Amino acid sequence: MSILVTGGAGYIASHTLVNLLEKGESAVVIDNYDNSSPEALRRVKQLTGKEIKAYEGDACDEELLVRIMHENAVESVIHFAGHKAVGESVQKPLKYYRNNLDSTISLLSAMKRCGVTQLIFSSSATVYYPEDEVPFREDMRLGCINPYGWTKFMNEQIIRDAAKADPDLSCVLLRYFNPVGAHPSGMIGEDPSGIPNNLMPYICQTAVGLRDHLTIFGNDYNTHDGTGVRDYLHVCDLAEGHACAVRYARSHKGVEAINLGTGVGYSVLDMVNAFQKVNNIPVKYVIGPRRPGDLDASYADPSKAERLLGWKATRTLEDMCRDGWNWQSKNPKGYR
Ligand code: WQD
Repeated sequence: MSILVTGGAGYIASHTLVNLLEKGESAVVIDNYDNSSPEALRRVKQLTGKEIKAYEGDACDEELLVRIMHENAVESVIHFAGHKAVGESVQKPLKYYRNNLDSTISLLSAMKRCGVTQLIFSSSATVYYPEDEVPFREDMRLGCINPYGWTKFMNEQIIRDAAKADPDLSCVLLRYFNPVGAHPSGMIGEDPSGIPNNLMPYICQTAVGLRDHLTIFGNDYNTHDGTGVRDYLHVCDLAEGHACAVRYARSHKGVEAINLGTGVGYSVLDMVNAFQKVNNIPVKYVIGPRRPGDLDASYADPSKAERLLGWKATRTLEDMCRDGWNWQSKNPKGYR
């Protein structure tokens, strides 16, 4: 029996593949390499010594999904494939709604046709109503401020409605907080195309000399040092959370939304200072204006993941900074 991983060559997916293969699971990948590189899969095979069957194609292609499920005795699916740049989603909302919703609908339809009933969905903390008090808990109200976030919200609803119509479905909606870092080998990591939107890759690219300096988006937030506070989570802890969710879905029915976060918030300056200290490398930064849409603080209540999945993040901010830099310094141009 195999686990189908859509978007399998991506950052979180490749780390999840390493975790699953090391546990003896069998995995098959579909990826159109639109925002990823087949090199990532080659390195996953190198790291684990395990084979991965990869299909180059679009997760919106229902017939291809059906063929993959039949050819590989797929038992469960982890659905990562989707566009994920918040800023781009504001500029190109239709591209995001079409791709991110159509891929989920195509996948659920293919699963129905093939009798596949277990789905782990890559959701995001961005679905939480921004004005609500942190820490965010799974039963709190939802509401988004950009099309990317709305596609996660709508996909959660689509999956819930599909599960209402088909009680055999077992779905886990994993709400990621801020994934950062890389596998300690430095062989796989985050490889954003173009100018990074997110903090950690921007810090790493500044440290390696690809960027002149980091701009800290505002230092007048209602936080301990005025800079934005987030729940940074090591990508290897996140990968472990997916393996726990796959195991949970094998013995449960219905739909559960579950936060994957540490429950601890760190500021931008906390991250910059930790990065400089751990790696003994300067990161030049300037303070700039706030980025529209940014919250003062966002961090998880992670208790449900511990209760239901037996999962808890173990890696520290220092681990995240060390492993993120190890990847970047060994791969200054990512997979290219
Ligand atoms: C973190 C902090 C910025 C860049 C986004 C998505 C979310 C998820 C993770 C996919 C904030 C500050 C950042 C920079 C900065 N993605 N910052 N200078 O915005 O919390 O979440 O990525 O699921 O859905 O919304 O992450 O890394 O962009 O920002 O000062 O160059 O770093 O203001 O306080 P964010 P981020």
